Amino acid sequence: MPLIRLDKFISERTEYSRSQIRQLASKKLITVDGKVVKSADVKIDPDSVKVTANGKEIRADRYRYILLNKPSGYVCSTSEHDGETVMNLIPPDMKTKGMFPAGRLDKDSLGALLITDDGELAHRILSPRHHISKIYIVKLDRPFQNKYIDLFKNGLQLADGEVCLPACVRGCEISEKLAFIQLFEGKYHQVKRMFSAVGNHVEVLMRVSLGSLILPEKLGFGECMELLHKDVENLFEEPDFDDFCRRFFSVFSANLINK
Ligand code: URA
Repeated sequence: MPLIRLDKFISERTEYSRSQIRQLASKKLITVDGKVVKSADVKIDPDSVKVTANGKEIRADRYRYILLNKPSGYVCSTSEHDGETVMNLIPPDMKTKGMFPAGRLDKDSLGALLITDDGELAHRILSPRHHISKIYIVKLDRPFQNKYIDLFKNGLQLADGEVCLPACVRGCEISEKLAFIQLFEGKYHQVKRMFSAVGNHVEVLMRVSLGSLILPEKLGFGECMELLHKDVENLFEEPDFDDFCRRFFSVFSANLINK
């Protein structure tokens, strides 16, 4: 990579403005290869040095990919006009100015949400042509019924006449009101509308995987982590639903059982 000014490099990859970067430098909070820099207008080769700001490494990757475990009460938007946004949960050293949520979870929904500044990848994920697998765990108002399995598999018709793509659903041995559902599309309020079409009601909904990328158990609600390029590729792989249910029901049901 050609030489670039340190403050430009940091400002392009974080939310810090140039003046905040100057302040960080004056507080000795910026390092290059472990050495404090007094002024951020020096030139660096980001591919060959390690830069930190406020104790966090600033990576030279072109795009950044953040996995957030979304808590309830936040909207998937970049505009404050829509209410408190998920962007407020991303620490400034992880956030770049062009980042946005690549997907939608309702304000009251929980779980895996990708936030990135890679518009092309976001487009690939959101495009209806790609049929990315998404698995949710839901807490229902009434017990799960096995008849849902065939109804969902055969392409359920919603109350407004819209027909869904075939989806997989399984009840849970631990609680008769918990279920996992795997979708390959993303219609508005789809999971809630599907259960409502079979006479049930979703009380709590949490997305637990995107492709074969599984929400890590250690990531609490409101916490986020940076993904590597190889994790991002997992978004386009399809996990085996029955295997997923066997392995993860007990892990994720604990999140919902007391909600
Ligand atoms: N389906 C819903 O109904 N809500 C979500 O947040 C995601 C999928």
